[in-house]
Amino acid sequence: MVKPIRQTDGPDHVAIIMDGNGRWATQRGRPRLFGHHAGAKRVREVVEACPDLGVKYLTIFAFSTENWKRTQVEVAGLMSLFRRYITKETRALKAENVRVRFIGDRPRLDAKLRKLMDDLEEHTCHCDGVNLTIALNYGGRDEVARATQRLARDVRDGKLDPESIDEETLPRYLDTCVLPDPDLVIRTSGEARISNFLLWQSAYAEYEFVETLWPDFGAEEMTRLVHAYGKRDRRFGAVAQ
Ligand code: IPE
Ligand code: IPE
Ligand code: MG
Repeated sequence: MVKPIRQTDGPDHVAIIMDGNGRWATQRGRPRLFGHHAGAKRVREVVEACPDLGVKYLTIFAFSTENWKRTQVEVAGLMSLFRRYITKETRALKAENVRVRFIGDRPRLDAKLRKLMDDLEEHTCHCDGVNLTIALNYGGRDEVARATQRLARDVRDGKLDPESIDEETLPRYLDTCVLPDPDLVIRTSGEARISNFLLWQSAYAEYEFVETLWPDFGAEEMTRLVHAYGKRDRRFGAVAQ
């Protein structure tokens, strides 16, 4: 697939690995969940910064398929935080014309949380402002595996010819099928890894790894990173002119 060289302006789609809540809390002598609550509070400011920055899609990593390995106390606390966050933020998100979607494997989440997620998606489905996608129980490899299952069923049922499968086919089966690929992926907390986030979709993303712990991240830093992106030269394998 040949893509044109794009001398970038702003990113349409920014994806964020919101990391560092635990360390932020530990630095303050508080339990990890205190950091998760502080982190959740930062989301609104970042969402609100998007329209002025021209960012149409914001995708945030809230809980990975690997995060179940944490203590039962932390996992239960996070699930309870997600339920509270959705309940509390629904009205504001709708008022700000934010369309919310979730990606990730839902069946493993409890029924009450799933219902809140479905309702939030439905309540905001007519909003045409920022597209906020929350990755919850999301893993890139898990997503590709689930997509492959669906694709294989279509082949079995005679709806898809195996010979026709190319790199445009699989994305139609991914959780992100209605979203463009991320242009810019930001990770907070100083770790320089992607931890199974948007593996397929980020093949040509620009990356920013910043030292800031997520509960200290805000509109100002987001603005700086979006502007820095604008100075980059995305070549997609071609030669700059
Ligand atoms: C990110 O913060 C939030 C989740 C993974 C749920 P962490 O909880 O990973 O914070 P650190 O990396 O331990 O500081
Ligand atoms: C990635 O952070 C997942 C989320 C931010 C939700 P982690 O803290 O789980 O990643 P690792 O364990 O450092 O790779
Ligand atoms: Mg972490």
